[in-house]
Parts: sequence; structure tokens; C-alpha cells
Amino acid sequence: MPLDSHPSEARTKPNDLSAFFMPFSAGRAFKARPRMVSRAKDMHYETPEGRKILDATAGLWCCNAGHARTQIVEAIRDQAEELDFAPTFQFAHPKVFELASRLVALSPVGIDHAFFCNSGSEAVDTALKMSLAYHRARGEASRTRLIGRERGYHGAGFGGISVGGIVNNRKFFGPLIPGVDHLPHTYSREHQGFTAGEPEWGAHLADELERIVTLHDASTIAAVIVEPLAGSTGVLPPPKGYLERLRAITAKHGILLIFDEVISGFGRMGHMWAAERYGVTPDMIVFAKGVTSGTVPMGGVMVSGQIHDQFMSGPEHVIELFHGYTYSGHPLAAAAALATLDVYREDDLFARARALEAPWAKAAMGLKSVSGVADIRTCGIVAGIDLDPIPGSPGLRAFKAMDEAFHEQGIMIRVTGDTIALSPPLTMSQAHIDEIFAKVSTVISKVMA
Ligand SMILES: Cc1ncc(COP(=O)(O)O)c(C=O)c1O
Repeated sequence: MPLDSHPSEARTKPNDLSAFFMPFSAGRAFKARPRMVSRAKDMHYETPEGRKILDATAGLWCCNAGHARTQIVEAIRDQAEELDFAPTFQFAHPKVFELASRLVALSPVGIDHAFFCNSGSEAVDTALKMSLAYHRARGEASRTRLIGRERGYHGAGFGGISVGGIVNNRKFFGPLIPGVDHLPHTYSREHQGFTAGEPEWGAHLADELERIVTLHDASTIAAVIVEPLAGSTGVLPPPKGYLERLRAITAKHGILLIFDEVISGFGRMGHMWAAERYGVTPDMIVFAKGVTSGTVPMGGVMVSGQIHDQFMSGPEHVIELFHGYTYSGHPLAAAAALATLDVYREDDLFARARALEAPWAKAAMGLKSVSGVADIRTCGIVAGIDLDPIPGSPGLRAFKAMDEAFHEQGIMIRVTGDTIALSPPLTMSQAHIDEIFAKVSTVISKVMA
């Protein structure tokens, strides 16, 4: 019988798992024992069998406002009916302008413009390309080098993996883009172990940028890109004073500073941007995920007036930036983002995240005594918990933890290497915090046994 004669079943129960080539997944293990979800509401997912799964990861660091918020759902639905698509190359629609203005109003002084795309990876590529084109437009075309950081994650595009520093994301894909260098990562278990918030040790690592500048000369360097909080590598909060030093050194040498806030934006760190939390204003802010609370794909780059204005030259009929995507500022994404910003404001979710940070960190640090926990780091509503690896099988312990969590404990956790990374929706309560860490504690005990 054809699948489409059972539309409701087709939506929840795939007949065959083989066709989908899964991204960043152990696909064969998944298909042998699927961790499938088919519905979501507020703090929970639901499996096709109706089992509730507590979402301790906001999907994939996205759903900061919780799942299926009525306001956002209705905005998307209404938008689909009113205007399904409009090009933003040479034409546009009103909501994308409204969204850009609202994002600018929520950004540091001097960050005056918003460019839109569909993902964090595209946003990273956009920011890198803008850096090169900006320097060229101002007559310094020799500034082509890009500086990333070891252990950095900037998505999966060629630009992002080139400036990124996660070995497995790079080593399969050839020489990557040329002219890239990397700062050292900022983690030291010896100096920072079991720190809640920003570690005291490590600001001096920003001075490595001076060494890189000396090596290549500032006249060849376009931009430095870092995640204020390195998320995907396993949660590395910035050492106290580190971002300030990076800002000072980049400014001194005329190098652009890009903050990749795909994870750290939209309340995750208790503020609109980590830039606000640290009082450090970069030249560009890369965003995605939380801008629509994960409901419709959208990414973008917040850009300083200085950069934007550099492109506003030449005859007025000529294109100013030769870059964009068919779906840049898609009406559904714009509508979802506007409704999401309303929810963030009406629920005061950024302030809520600030208020929850201390109890969150306390509960996370409560796992310190659990056997097999090697380090715990927290910052904003994020926690990284390092597990002792299974000798000879890196990543297996945490993989087992993810499986145990989903199938036995009813909680979705994210793992990277042998680190558990937690980042629940900002709508969570103290009871959810207690439940998350009780469950994670049980999971760790099980996989250490
Ligand atoms: C800091 C950072 N940059 C970029 C990306 C890539 O975003 P996307 O997966 O939407 O392309 C991510 C995704 O997790 C991220 O954490």
C-alpha cells in the first residue's frame, strides 16, 4: 500500500531508514537503534511511541524559547498564507526590514546593519567574505589572511572549516582555503578545572595574536574570528579578560574582529549577545539558531556601520555586495524571527537566563563527585561535562551516555568527543534543572559501571 494513503502514519513512522544520509551522525548505529522524535512542546520532545523526552539541548542549541510556542507557530502559518516567498535580490518585503531594525536595536552601538542567510555556516562564510571585500574596497587588498582558533567551530562550509579548529571536521577535506592561521585554544584542565563561569587563567593566550601578526604582518591579515564561548568543541568559556585583549590587539592592527555568536546569542549567555555580556564590541556578529528559536532556518551577520558604508560607493544602479542567497531574509524566517523576538521580550527570557545561571551552575557542579567526571564547565545556560574516556575508544563513553539518556532516562543530551554538552531552552524551571542533572548523574553512573 502506498505510504501516502496513511498520511498521519507517514509523518511519524518512516517505513525505511536507509535513504537518509545523516549529517554529523553515527548513522548505522542510529538506524540500528533510532533516537526518533516526532513531536515537541515546551521543554519536551515526544517519540513516535508517545514517550516524553526532556530536551536538555534546545534541539541543537536552537530552541531558546522552548518548543512549539503558539505565537511563533501562528506567525509562520499566517506568513505562509500571506506571502510565501519574495526575492531579496533587487526586491524585498517589509518584514525583513523590520527584523533588521529590531536586531540592530538589540545590538551594541556601532553595529548598525543586518545581513541574512539560512544557517550559521552561510553566515560565517558571509562574514569572512565581507572582511576580504571590505579591506579591498578601502584600498588594502593585501589583507586576505583569516585567523581562527584551535578547537573553534564555525560550521561546515569551506570557510568555516578552514578557520575552524576541530580536526575531524577538517582532515577529510583537502587543503581548505589558503592563508589561514589559528590562535591557540583557551582550555587547560590543570589551570581551569571545575570552573563555573569565566576562568581566571588564560587571558594571556590572546597575546598569541601579536605573535601571528609579527609572523605575517598586519598588512596581510583581514580578520580574526572566534566564538566568545566555544560551544561545539565541548563548552569552553572565555577566560576573564581574553576577549577584551583580542579586541585591543585587532583594533591596534586594523584587523576586523568577528564574534561567531551562533550559540552564544539570543539569551544563551543571559544577554542578547555575548558581546553585551563582556562589554566587547566586535566588527561583525555571526548569528543563526536562536534568531527563530530553531523554527525556520535563518542565519545572518550583524555588521558595523563602518564596514557597511565602505560598500556604499560607486554608481547607484550597481550592486554593492556581490553576495547573497535565494532565501536571504525568507518571509517565513523573518516572520518566525519577529515572533521569536516578541517571545524573548514578553517572557523576559534573557533576564530569566541570567537569574537561572547561578542555580544552573550549582546543579552542574553537583556532579563533580560522580565517578568518571573529569571536568565540568558552565557559562550562561550551558554546561560541559567531561567524562573519563573508555581506554582505546575515544568518544564511546559519551556515545553510550547519549543512547542511555534517550532510551532509558527520557532526556536528550548532546555529546562531542567524551564531553556531554547541555543547553536547555531558557524557559526551563528550577524543577527542570533538578531533573536534568539527576538524570545526567544516573546516565553517567550507568555508563561508568
Ligand atoms: C559557533 C557556530 N558557528 C556556526 C555554526 C554552524 O551553524 P549551522 O549548522 O546552522 O550551519 C554552529 C553550529 O552549531 C556554531 O555552533
